[in-house]
Amino acid sequence: MGHVVLIYNTIFETRSEIRDILLSGKTIGLVPTMGALHRGHISLLKKARQENDIVVLSIFINPIQFSKGEDLDKYPQTFEEDCKLALEAGTDIVFAPTSKEMYPDQLKTKVKVLGVTEYLCGEKRANHFTGVTTVIAKFLNIVPCDNIYFGQKDYQQFLVVKQIINDLNFPAEIVLCPIVRDYDGLALSSRNRYLNKEERQEALCLKEALDAAKDLITAHKIREVKEIEYTLIHIFECYSLVKLEYIFIGIADNLEPITKIPEGRKVLIALAVSIGETRLIDNLLLQI
Ligand code: PAF
Repeated sequence: MGHVVLIYNTIFETRSEIRDILLSGKTIGLVPTMGALHRGHISLLKKARQENDIVVLSIFINPIQFSKGEDLDKYPQTFEEDCKLALEAGTDIVFAPTSKEMYPDQLKTKVKVLGVTEYLCGEKRANHFTGVTTVIAKFLNIVPCDNIYFGQKDYQQFLVVKQIINDLNFPAEIVLCPIVRDYDGLALSSRNRYLNKEERQEALCLKEALDAAKDLITAHKIREVKEIEYTLIHIFECYSLVKLEYIFIGIADNLEPITKIPEGRKVLIALAVSIGETRLIDNLLLQI
């Protein structure tokens, strides 16, 4: 495999293909996405290609992780282009089910993670993470993989999925891959397509704020979280189209909030803003 991509829309076909692969003793890497692939997704596929015999890409715009009023109806769909990019990145199988295939009946079982889902993005997007963990649990049952790949841009999502893998004993390793940025530092996201020219320019506030936080901590040795937050708030105030949703500075492993930057522990600085109709997130992991 490697030069053709097998595309399956049903769970039945995917399962029978995966069963044969498992029987042959091959390892499987799964990259779950909602499509509209960009270089961030491609980096996950390439990492999966290096580490597994078979690479499976799932493309599914998961309705249950969107709240009312969010962008479910306008989420970009670029399936043919996605398959082309997936092939170039060495993908073997694309699993692209319909909503009806994934949710044929009203769903009465959901996978809900406590704790790490309650802050940051979980505060504003009430059912979002339960939607994510439910669909990932389904994917892990349909494609029992050795490795599953997530990007650091959605760092909280990575933690939440890591939790279900540990708690529910899914036999997969979760792999976190670095954020991929555009030429000017904007973290790649399928939602960047929504931005007009002015909004795209203002979106650079996220990288500017993260760079400033890094500089305060590493070069200026600032340890007070409040002081760092004040500086970041001032940066966001200079951008007229930007509405700040949150600045989070805490322990990366468990999202425990902190008042001082500790030594010897990985710290997460995570940001969320809205620019016009578009919600964007970005983050930085740092250890001093
Ligand atoms: O990050 C995403 O694209 C989605 O949340 C995921 C992991 C594919 C689940 O629907």
